[in-house]
Order: sequence, then C-alpha cells, then structure tokens
Amino acid sequence: MPTIKHCPGCPYREFGPAIGPRGDPTSPIVLVGEAPGAKEVKKKKPFVGPAGDVLWKAVAEAGLHEADLFITNSVACRPHPARPRVGAIRACQGRLAKDLGASPRLVVVALGTTALRAVTGDSRLGVTEARRGPPFLSRWGLVVPTLHPARVLRRPSERPLLVEDLRSARDIAVHRS
Ligand code: URA
Repeated sequence: MPTIKHCPGCPYREFGPAIGPRGDPTSPIVLVGEAPGAKEVKKKKPFVGPAGDVLWKAVAEAGLHEADLFITNSVACRPHPARPRVGAIRACQGRLAKDLGASPRLVVVALGTTALRAVTGDSRLGVTEARRGPPFLSRWGLVVPTLHPARVLRRPSERPLLVEDLRSARDIAVHRS
C-alpha cells in the first residue's frame, strides 16, 4: 500500500500528519473523500467521524462490505480552516494518483464535488449535476459521482441517493469482474 512519508515543500500541511488510505488496497472499488477531519487525524484513518458513520451505514445498505473497499481522500492532511484549497488539492494530486493507480480499479466513487474534481482534474464539474448522468470513464476506472456523506448528515432526506449510487458502484464491479 502506498504510504506518505513526507511531502517536501507542500505549504498546505498545516494540520498534518498526513492520513493514509484504509481498506483493501487491491479493491476494484475505491471511495474518494475530501479531507481528513479532527477525528481522522486522531485515529489516523479516513472516515471515522460522523461522516464516516453515515458512509458505513450507506455502504452496508448498498450491499457492500467496508473491508472489501479502498478509501482515500482528495487531500491527505487536515485542511485549514475547513475545506481544502485548490492549491492543496493540486499539491496532493500525485499522492492521490498513487492511491488510485496502486491496483487496477473498476469503479471510483467520488464522494462530493471536491473528490470529483480531484479525480477528474476538471474544476467545472459539480456532483449534483454529474450524478444525474451515467458513470463516465476516467484514467482510473468508471467514475460514480455521489453526495459527500457530510452533506447527507446535514440533509438526511438525500440519504437514499448516496445508497443508490453506492449500489450502482457495486453493480458495475459485480458485472465487470
Ligand atoms: N473524513 C474523511 O476522511 N474524509 C472526508 O471527506 C470526510 C470525513
């Protein structure tokens, strides 16, 4: 599994340490989040806070198993004040590419607009519009855009959309493997 040892010269590592990915590095399904929060820094792994609770429940409801997935973030360090800046995402792109390319992937689930932009390199994309269309091909595999679990936490009525998209990711992986 790729590990982050140091990021020389990265000016965005304000609230490090860098939090590496979790899960099965050989998984055909990768989930990409935005950035670690305080809980993730404390426990040294992604999605262990309230957004993680939403995500793991939706994962189970979609018929997926947490241990069979690979999970990483658009940026590896906790951003200041809350959202990663464009420069931080750019600075962390090589590390994200290593995580995505470590093994052949079938599906890349982009959790929210930041992840969608980090995965595609297209800063015009937004998840609300993108998830209305079919999954599309990227150099890493088919991209399934979906809502960030933190958004679902604020708007629980949107939870079925997250579950539905995760189910699509599972179906693609099942049919293509
Ligand atoms: N925790 C993460 O690791 N990533 C997010 O995007 C949100 C919470």
